[in-house]
Amino acid sequence: MSSIPRFGYAVLRTPLIPCRSGLAASRFYSTAAPLKAKRVLPSLSLDSKVCLVTGAARGLGYNFCRAFLQSGCTELAIVDLKESEAQKAAAQLVRDACILNSDMTPEDFNVISVGCDVSSEVAVQKAFDTVVDTFGQIDAVVASAGIVENYSALDYPSDRMKLLYDINVHGAFFTAREAARNMIPRGSGSIILVASMSASIVNIPQLQTPYNASKAAVKHMAASLAVEWAKKGVRVNSLSPGYMQTKLTKTILAHNQELKKTWEGLTPMGRMGEPEDLSGAVVFLASDASQFMTGTDMRVDGGYCLL
Ligand SMILES: NC(=O)c1ccc[n+]([C@@H]2O[C@H](COP(=O)([O-])OP(=O)(O)OC[C@H]3O[C@@H](n4cnc5c(N)ncnc54)[C@H](O)[C@@H]3O)[C@@H](O)[C@H]2O)c1
Repeated sequence: MSSIPRFGYAVLRTPLIPCRSGLAASRFYSTAAPLKAKRVLPSLSLDSKVCLVTGAARGLGYNFCRAFLQSGCTELAIVDLKESEAQKAAAQLVRDACILNSDMTPEDFNVISVGCDVSSEVAVQKAFDTVVDTFGQIDAVVASAGIVENYSALDYPSDRMKLLYDINVHGAFFTAREAARNMIPRGSGSIILVASMSASIVNIPQLQTPYNASKAAVKHMAASLAVEWAKKGVRVNSLSPGYMQTKLTKTILAHNQELKKTWEGLTPMGRMGEPEDLSGAVVFLASDASQFMTGTDMRVDGGYCLL
């Protein structure tokens, strides 16, 4: 983590490196020791934005919360099926945020945890009611809750398949709809649906047809909702990670260590992503820096989909 630049600080370096036009590419590129300077695009800040992330007790959702708290957000809702894990995550996120923002104390952050099964429409409505009662509004929502299971199509138990679609597809829809119900009357908001590179390619060698189809649905759901709500000030984009190091993939790899090498070999950058590799993308999509962007699928996959 320490090598990753923090938001709020730009690195100022010398000497200069020529850019394509032949002119010097300004003082931002060089080999000299970095100086810390508070120079960052103001619209990237999440200052005064209320954020909500589902599936946030661990994995990518947890890291999205971390990135938001690093980028100016101080009011945040951690929504997860596992309420006690969400509570622990909220406490840890505040501790980390105070370390990362050394001028702030736990009292400066209002991070709440809400237990919710996103596959239940009523539960999602109640969760949003709780968040709106607490903060009064919601500005950015990330639907990250999701599951994957690996069976061949011929063997996939239909009850498991229905559960997967209930969480990955209907859960994303219920989350987006409740977000929009709060955002549309205020004429602004950003919704990010976590899809996957599996929306665009077929993963090998593991078998996961319903998962791939669910993520293709999420990607096109984001595009469709983007058109439906574009003139109401609500943006909807999807974020499609490649193979990332989280519990979700570690569970698969626990049974098959060789698989990691196969995945890395299929990825042009030659590695799996860390959750932090998505921080810039999610902050950008949640912030006003992406204000003319809606219906886009942002892939962050080390180049996997290019081959
Ligand atoms: N890890 C990857 O390689 C990868 C790649 C592409 C896309 N994704 C997607 O990113 C999202 C997050 O994945 P992850 O790797 O962080 O997974 P993860 O298993 O580490 O975390 C998922 C979180 O979602 C929560 N959750 C599960 N079912 C829920 C439900 N019904 N209601 C509310 N919360 C629920 C879990 O409790 C957990 O905290 C998923 O949608 C996944 O499909 C992951």
